[in-house]
Amino acid sequence: MNTENWKVLIIDDEEGIRRVMAITLGDAGYQVFTAADGESGIELCKKESPHIVITDIRMPGIDGIEVLKRVKEEDPDKEVIVVTAYGEMEIAIRALQLDASDFITKPINDEALLVALTRAKERYTTRRELRDYTNLIEQRWISTAEELKKTFNFQKNLIESSIDGIIGCDREGRIITFNKSMEDMSGYSKDEVVGKVSLDRFFPVGEVEILREKLYSEEYGGKYRLFLFESTLISKTGNKIPVQLSATVLFEDDEEIGMVGFFRDLREIRRMEQEFLDKTRLLHQDKMISLGKLAASVVHEINNPLSGILNYIRLMIKILGRGAPTQEHIQKFQRYLTLMESETDRCSKIVSNLLAFSRKSKVEYTGIDINDLIQKSIMLSQHKLTLQNIHVETHLNPEIAKVWGDFNQIQQCIINLIFNAIDAMPDGGTLTIESSFDSQRGLVEIRVKDSGCGIAKGDIPYIFDPFFTTKKEGKGIGLGLSTVYGIIEGHGGSVSVESELGKGTVFVLKLPQHPNQ
Ligand SMILES: Nc1ncnc2c1ncn2[C@@H]1O[C@H](COP(=O)(O)OP(=O)(O)OP(=O)(O)O)[C@@H](O)[C@H]1O
Ligand SMILES: [Mg+2]
Repeated sequence: MNTENWKVLIIDDEEGIRRVMAITLGDAGYQVFTAADGESGIELCKKESPHIVITDIRMPGIDGIEVLKRVKEEDPDKEVIVVTAYGEMEIAIRALQLDASDFITKPINDEALLVALTRAKERYTTRRELRDYTNLIEQRWISTAEELKKTFNFQKNLIESSIDGIIGCDREGRIITFNKSMEDMSGYSKDEVVGKVSLDRFFPVGEVEILREKLYSEEYGGKYRLFLFESTLISKTGNKIPVQLSATVLFEDDEEIGMVGFFRDLREIRRMEQEFLDKTRLLHQDKMISLGKLAASVVHEINNPLSGILNYIRLMIKILGRGAPTQEHIQKFQRYLTLMESETDRCSKIVSNLLAFSRKSKVEYTGIDINDLIQKSIMLSQHKLTLQNIHVETHLNPEIAKVWGDFNQIQQCIINLIFNAIDAMPDGGTLTIESSFDSQRGLVEIRVKDSGCGIAKGDIPYIFDPFFTTKKEGKGIGLGLSTVYGIIEGHGGSVSVESELGKGTVFVLKLPQHPNQ
């Protein structure tokens, strides 16, 4: 700031002194204001806000010390030079104690006045710079503190909202961090554990030592790391919770300061694994039952043609035993042989069908021709159907799309539905199987309909439950429909049923078409 921009206020009751000072300072380039007493001086000071105030000490009304106090109260940055009479050293010292920047004595020497002003300017500038600098540092400090707070809160949030339980502990194993998931999993609250208990509390006896050993070995993801290690967490109530643990040793400047562990609760996964195993077991059980029923049916189905074939063979041997066959005999033999061929062919088809159903247990997805599947299923159940005087009708739409799925599993569903229909028609009836295609929704529909006893309304909600059966002991165990439901759902399809007591039942299976069609 050059001299012209500096504002100086002179307060003095002696007009002569005011004027002389004003001229001197005006000549030196200062912008000067003057006031004849303390009161008006303070008013002018508020209005013009000078950088420097020069005030006489002895004035009627408010004296210079009071002016100094008030100016400093208003704005401590303003520089105040007091003017004292010669020998008033005590007053001068008092003014300096009140943060006056300087004092000059009367009579006023121009040179001394200008020197005092130069010093006041320097003081003013330095003070300003210092204040600006302090402000800047303060500002930076505040924003750094805010940044730090933000980062801290973000990290805290991250730890708190993690689905995995997180425990952080110091070198001695004392817990420092314990997040929300950890609280939920273990049943302990943060307050109960942080700084109060050690890691041992959460593991079976001796387990922490084993964990430490693994952590420092190369075995699980390298030294100082434990990667996907399965362990057991002991909850507050003593429950054993299966967990998957990943941990790492924490370092600061190459010095070990603790460790952090991430715990994944495996209970839900274990439950799902168990459910899957149970389901697979039930599916297998149902398949074995279907197979048993089918085998009995197939044995009869094969026995009849076999005895027919045997009869023809015996007849032919008998005829041949009587001497050379006549032309008429040869024509008969040809007819017998054609019949025997078609019967043998049928037997071998049935047997290979049954074998295919019994052998395959691995789930294998292919494009399935549902019409072919329906026909094979009817063939396997034929004997049971005939035995019970059941007439079979099929309405198979040749235009239907293929279904993406496991042939064997879907066949198991159709056979279960056929067997249920057979059981529902002990005195004979009609079994109608239809296939159709809803091209708009890309669904292949299979309808298995019987004219049997129907299902009581009250039973309908339960028929898909495992082990729900209305059949006599030894007749059914109630696995058929739950298997159908599981398989069709697994294929992304749906099962529905309509039934009327005494009239019959229809099961509708809807399966999504093969995606590549
Ligand atoms: N077509 C049907 N007509 C009448 N009732 C039926 C029909 N299909 C199923 N049900 C009823 O639903 C029950 C459950 O059928 P599901 O196939 O699950 O078991 P189940 O046939 O009794 O025994 P399983 O199939 O294990 O030999 C049957 O006991 C029967 O009461
Ligand atoms: Mg059944």
